[in-house]
Amino acid sequence: MTPMTASAARAATTSAEPPILAKLPGARPGDLGECWSGSPGSDLMWASYSFMFPEGELFFIRSLKRCVGAVTDPRMRQEAEGFVAQEAYHTTEHRHLNDLLRGLGADVNGFYAYFRTVRLKLERASALWNLARTCAAEHLTSLHCLASHRNRWLDACKSEAVRRLWYWHLQEELEHRSVCVDVLRAVGGSYWVRVLAFAEVLPRMAWYQSRAMRCYLRGRPFRQQLAAYLSFAGMILRMRGKWQTLRELFAYLRPSYHPRQLPGDPVIAYCRARFGFALAEASGAGAGASG
Ligand SMILES: [Fe+2]
Ligand SMILES: [Fe+2]
Repeated sequence: MTPMTASAARAATTSAEPPILAKLPGARPGDLGECWSGSPGSDLMWASYSFMFPEGELFFIRSLKRCVGAVTDPRMRQEAEGFVAQEAYHTTEHRHLNDLLRGLGADVNGFYAYFRTVRLKLERASALWNLARTCAAEHLTSLHCLASHRNRWLDACKSEAVRRLWYWHLQEELEHRSVCVDVLRAVGGSYWVRVLAFAEVLPRMAWYQSRAMRCYLRGRPFRQQLAAYLSFAGMILRMRGKWQTLRELFAYLRPSYHPRQLPGDPVIAYCRARFGFALAEASGAGAGASG
């Protein structure tokens, strides 16, 4: 990772970076069978993320919208609009994927009900704190994108449409990885707000994900559930770049941290070259992102 100060990292984005625009994956997955993503452990991992996105990304959108009114920089406001549009489309597409996972017997509705209650409780906090929570969650999402690409976890996916969906989401997460941190700083969020929210969000996310995993496996025989957890543990143990991921995780604690310091640009370039996602027609409209 190239050392770079926060202001230098921000400056590097202001001129050469393309605008943040919502795109669409261009294909929707059809029926999914067992081991749709290659193994029981990877099914468990991808499904748990997909379960969290509709309510989670709604929380991100609403948190950003509560703060962005105080931003005066027009470029930053435009980037925030791009963030909202991208996350809104992610929500829509993941609801569709979750509908298919429901067809495999997953307790999608049970998780939605639980996570909606969580979101509503979290939203009682101050606008600044929720934006800081969003920054932390976006950092974790970016790390997952980088690790997924580094490990080529999606190569084993049986469906090209599912692979496309995830790479589309992964690309856009990396494209907008700086937006919330930039807005947080612009509206006066201090270093301590950012890192204390991170300390809160890290265990929360682990708990929510474990809950999503349980909902994915609910109703299955014990042996099948155990096999899925063991398969997932094996994936994590065999993960390439574990130490790099850990370093990237805790880089967030540095006062000079900026998301641009994460090596996301080569992954974005890979996605653009391989998939070439087309712009969404109503880009910027923030479909379904009322907040
Ligand atoms: Fe997203
Ligand atoms: Fe995001």
